[in-house]
Formats: sequence, C-alpha cells, structure tokens
Amino acid sequence: MNDQSRAVEISERGRVPAQQGAWTKRLYWDVFYSTDEPKENLPVTHAEMEGFRRHVLAAGARTAIDVGSGWGLLATLMAREGLRTVGYDWSPVAVDRARTFWGEEKRLSFEVHDFLTQTPPRELVPGTVDVVACRLTLPYLDRHIAMADFRRWLKPRSGVLYLVVQVRERQQPGKERGFPHSVVEELRHGWRHSVRWDLDLPHAFTSVLGEFTALALTGPEG
Ligand SMILES: C[S@@+](CC[C@H](N)C(=O)[O-])C[C@H]1O[C@@H](n2cnc3c(N)ncnc32)[C@H](O)[C@@H]1O
Repeated sequence: MNDQSRAVEISERGRVPAQQGAWTKRLYWDVFYSTDEPKENLPVTHAEMEGFRRHVLAAGARTAIDVGSGWGLLATLMAREGLRTVGYDWSPVAVDRARTFWGEEKRLSFEVHDFLTQTPPRELVPGTVDVVACRLTLPYLDRHIAMADFRRWLKPRSGVLYLVVQVRERQQPGKERGFPHSVVEELRHGWRHSVRWDLDLPHAFTSVLGEFTALALTGPEG
C-alpha cells in the first residue's frame, strides 16, 4: 500500500484531524515535561512491575513499544526486562528528556510521534510486536482507533497489550478522569486471554488521583 492510499484508509477510519486543538493539548505536556526535576505522573512501583512480570512478560517476548512514554520510566524498565523497547510520545520535550535521562540504557530508544493525528509509525509492522504498553495515555487518544492499531501491531496469538487506566467511578467526587468501569470491561472483549488487577499505590497518589486498574490483554485475534 502506498502512502497516499494508507492516508485515505486511515482518514476513512476516522483518525482525528490535526486542527481539533491537538496542538494546544500537546503544549500542555511540553510545559509539564520542562520542569528541572521530573514530577512523575504516577510512580512505577515494585508491585506494579511484579504484576507486569506475572501477566505481561511471556517467555520469548523480545520487542515492546510504549505509547505515550513520558519521562520514559516504564519503557526503561521494559528494556531492563530484556525487551527491545521504543517509547513514543508526542511531546518533543518529553522525548528529549527521556533520551537524556536514559541515554546509557541498552535496547532502548525514544521517538516523537502523535498517535492522535498522525498515521502510525512506519516501523510498526502489523503482527510483529510482543508487548504494547499504554500507561495512563489511552484516554488522551481516540480509544477505538488506538485499540485497533494496538491489535494490528501485536503478534496475533501471543502479543500482549498492557494498559493502565483510572476508573471513573473510583475518582474523587467531581473528577472525570479515566474510563467508566463498563468501558474498562469492554476493552477486554475479543482477546484470547485477559487479566485485570488494581495497582497497589501509595495513599498520597490514590487520595488525589483515585484508583488505577491494569489490564493485560493477550492474543488480539481472540
Ligand atoms: C498521563 S501521561 C503518562 C505518561 C507515562 N505513560 C506514565 O505512565 O507516566 C500521558 C502521556 O501521553 C502523552 N500523549 C498524550 N497524547 C498523545 C498523543 N496523541 N500521542 C502521543 N503521546 C501522547 C503525553 O505527552 C504524556 O506523556
């Protein structure tokens, strides 16, 4: 398929047009990642990594991508688990910081990419990726397009999608972050195997940001 027919195919599937305020939203993240000291979105705890090892890391997994990689901590931890990992973020500031922080790491790189308005990175060949991680980022994307993309990139039987999202009903009153419980459960449909568990996080985070739930969805072909 040439570039033009691919662009048409994607716009017919409804990829969000660039002019719908995406640029202003990206600026928010550029500012967020410009602070001298990193202020984490949410720490990746030992307990989270234990869950990741138990439910996501399968024997023989070699490659991973992190969609919305921010400071690059999860991408780095995945690379340390032995996965050749690329972290993508639409904020050039985030990518620049991540490259600086983690420049010495093996099997790790970071690229700027906007998953809302751009066509998918060319290097993501369908059916080839072992792990797609999307931690706290799915609500910023078009959920339907992103989930279709993730399924397409993963290996059909063994590929695993790792998602972390806030559950809307379990936020502080008046907060509207994340997805309703029903949507989280919907995300599990059509996979060969799915596991959901809650992240065990410090009270300092949950008291402000509510509870977070993780999903490991294996085998996009169902
Ligand atoms: C809440 S932060 C999560 C960062 C990281 N995954 C973590 O767990 O700390 C959301 C991230 O998604 C990125 N992001 C938002 N919209 C994006 C898009 N359209 N394409 C790529 N990255 C995006 C932001 O720049 C930000 O780094």
